[in-house]
Formats: sequence, structure tokens, C-alpha cells
Amino acid sequence: MTVLITGAAGRLGRRLTRALEADHDLVLGDITPLDDPRFRHLDVLDLAAAREAIQGCDAVAHLAMLDCLSGDMEQILDYSPGALQVHAVGTHTMLRAAMEAGVRRFVYSSSVSAVDGIAPGTFVASDCRHFSNGIYGMSKGFGEDICRMFQIRFGVSVAVLRLGNVYMPENGGAWMGNVYVEDLEKRPGSGPAPSRVHVDDVTRCIALALGATEPAYSLVHVVGADSGDQWDLEAARRLYGWEPRYSFSPDGLPHPVEA
Ligand SMILES: NC(=O)c1ccc[n+]([C@@H]2O[C@H](COP(=O)([O-])OP(=O)(O)OC[C@H]3O[C@@H](n4cnc5c(N)ncnc54)[C@H](O)[C@@H]3O)[C@@H](O)[C@H]2O)c1
Repeated sequence: MTVLITGAAGRLGRRLTRALEADHDLVLGDITPLDDPRFRHLDVLDLAAAREAIQGCDAVAHLAMLDCLSGDMEQILDYSPGALQVHAVGTHTMLRAAMEAGVRRFVYSSSVSAVDGIAPGTFVASDCRHFSNGIYGMSKGFGEDICRMFQIRFGVSVAVLRLGNVYMPENGGAWMGNVYVEDLEKRPGSGPAPSRVHVDDVTRCIALALGATEPAYSLVHVVGADSGDQWDLEAARRLYGWEPRYSFSPDGLPHPVEA
């Protein structure tokens, strides 16, 4: 099938491109240019551009996000309007274009940060509604609601994946979501423990979710095997046959899980 990836020039977008390109035709949408013939300039806030990019696509992997590189208060305040724009309005724009184009599947990459306001130690069920103390998680949570609305009211088939903090083996094993992990660790007593997930587990789950059309709305957690006591992994298992292949216990480094 033909898949539009938004945020394709980003850390996860580049990895997802590599994971999908053998089996699918790809349209790589981003505001950051890529030296790739499949690249299409796409601002997710621009409905006309979204309509154009989505033409002929069967599915969308919606990854675009506005990154916040600092926990400094002034910068967070400056970041907030843009985060709400890209994560909430941008998700609305992409879903509207997807609905109009009759796209068969829309996969939204949300984040465990969407529930970082819940009490520490709480087991996070897959039907746990978002509740965040931060603008990043809050705006990603609004994106979840907008996905749900487009399913209920407009019939778009949507899969929401709440991703843990993504581990990249390259770059010396740097975390993609370093800022958020550090931020959570600096705020003990706030939210569930930081969850980690290997990038290969993430791209595999996105591929599985893109390939399904049922259920028409679902929300699943995509975290490492060691996070299963805190994050409900049952929905991802049941709906997509997905199981994390890496655990980050006991040292925070990825260890393959015994089959
Ligand atoms: N990295 C993680 O650890 C992590 C954890 C949980 C969830 N996620 C989610 O996964 C997705 C990808 O994360 P990432 O780490 O690759 O992010 P990233 O910042 O590396 O990439 C995001 C991409 O989105 C693009 N973008 C920004 N504004 C845009 C706009 N208006 N229109 C189109 N493109 C725009 C950027 O240019 C960038 O290439 C995000 O939705 C993020 O919320 C990531």
C-alpha cells in the first residue's frame, strides 16, 4: 500500500521509512527537507498541502511533532502555543484530509507523556484517558481525543499508539526522548515511572497497526517488556499480535527478551 509518513525527517520518521520501504510505497511529508525523491513538503497545519500529499495514499503514519529541547520555564511557555497547534490542530488537519481522501487507516503516534499526570504507581490501562501536567503530554492527549472524534463522528479507522521513550541503538544508544525521561526523573512522585521502548519494537508496532483496519478505534501502549507491570500491554497483544522484544531491566539498556 501507499503510506504517507508525516514528520518523516524526524528521528522516528527516518527509522520508520527504513522499516516500511521494502513492503510499501512511501510519501515522506515534513517541513524539514529530505534529500529523497519521495519527499513532499508538508506542513500539517496546511489543509491544502495535506490534501495534496494524501492523494493516492491508503494509510497515514502521523508522526509530526514540535520538539521542546529545554525544560527552562520561559522556553516551555514559548513552546506551548506551537505544541497545541502542531499536535492538536495539525492532527485535526491530517485527519480531515484523510477522511476526505477515504484513507483506510490512520496511525497516530501519541506518547506515554499523555498520562504523566496520573498518580505514581497506578497501572495504566489502555482505556485510561489522557491526563498530563505538561503541555507536551497535554497536546498529545488532545490529539488522541481528536482521533477518537474522527472515528466516532466521521468513521475514520484510527489506531493510537502511546509510545514510551524511544531507544535508538545508533548515536551511542541515545534516547530519542531524552528530555522527557530526564524531566520525569526530576519530578519524583509525578506520574508513572518512565517507560522505555526499543525503536525496532516501535516501528514493528506501527507497521502492524497500519496493516489492520479493525477495530476502527484503538489505543495501545508501546513500551518495553519490563514496563508491563505498569503499562497495559494486553491491547497491543490482542489487536496486533505485538509483543515487545526488548526489556530495559535491570540497567536501562536494551536486552532481547527470550522467545
Ligand atoms: N522520541 C520519543 O522518544 C517519542 C516518545 C513518545 C512519542 N513520540 C512521538 O513520536 C513522534 C516522532 O517523534 P520523533 O522523536 O521522531 O520527533 P522528531 O522531533 O525527531 O521529528 C518530528 C518531525 O516533525 C516535523 N514537524 C514539526 N512540525 C511540523 C509541521 N508543522 N508539519 C510537518 N512536520 C512537522 C519536524 O520537522 C521533524 O522532522 C512524535 O509524534 C512524538 O510525539 C516520540
